[in-house]
Amino acid sequence: MSHEHSATRRVGQVKEVTSLSNPIVKDIKALADKKHRDETKSFMAEGLKLVIDALELGFEIRTLVYAKNVKEKPQVVQCATKTVARGGLVLEVSEKVLSSITRRDNPQMVVGIFTQRWTPLRDLKPKTGETYVALDRVRDPGNLGTIIRTADAAGASGVILVGEATDPFSMETVRATMGSVFAMPLVKTNVADFLAWKKTAGVEVVATHLAGAVDYRTIDYRKKPVVLLMGNEQSGLPDELARAADALARIPQAGRADSLNLAIATGVMLFEARRHLLTLEARA
Ligand code: SAM
Ligand code: CO
Repeated sequence: MSHEHSATRRVGQVKEVTSLSNPIVKDIKALADKKHRDETKSFMAEGLKLVIDALELGFEIRTLVYAKNVKEKPQVVQCATKTVARGGLVLEVSEKVLSSITRRDNPQMVVGIFTQRWTPLRDLKPKTGETYVALDRVRDPGNLGTIIRTADAAGASGVILVGEATDPFSMETVRATMGSVFAMPLVKTNVADFLAWKKTAGVEVVATHLAGAVDYRTIDYRKKPVVLLMGNEQSGLPDELARAADALARIPQAGRADSLNLAIATGVMLFEARRHLLTLEARA
């Protein structure tokens, strides 16, 4: 049960690894399972750009892995130096090992193992001009990744996962965020705590619902910080959450489709709620 996770234990060294059965490699591969991500509170990000972003944003790096043939790239050298300086482990591996770690035929040449970062709900102190996305039991990793990326792009201040949610630190979700997973504060909570927080946070909760009576374009998104509350992909918002909302908004639709995809609906809402704050000139 409490076996060693060696990838998180060795500090400040560079190792060369070519064997797929190396225990450190096995540990990293185990991060494909949520159980092991939870146990180690870590996750994997693929690609040099993402690793550089994460290091810049102060994420704790546990292990840097790169293919031998990129070891002389200045940016890779910099990442390796930073990793060692911060007490992490650096692995120089064969492409075969990288393929097996990332489960891809054409793997990224650089992979980083980082400590997960969660923001406690009580630390969210919404201010006017801020927008949050709250997701009820989001299930699909691609949807969640797309939403995190879109929330970042729209200038939102955080994504709140309410109830049993897919893991934002899964490989699939991290990939879909294109790096925004490092920029967006992430909160995990349940319905009761979310509703209690709502009472004191001074926010306007705009829930989206297929039976919503209000056209989403008629809502005043300026007067208070806004929380956009989005329903589960299959079942939509449960009554308990819908009742607690300050407005039930609907996006008018035409055509045959019953509903919009969750990530698309979230994108539409985000850019409407932040329309008055986004300009082509200013990039916050
Ligand atoms: N079968 C679900 C239902 O009946 O609610 C469909 C859920 S839909 C795929 C997922 C979420 O996207 C919804 O709960 C809602 O938050 C949002 N959504 C999708 N289309 C919408 C629309 N036209 N207006 C408002 N919200 C919408
Ligand atoms: Co384990």
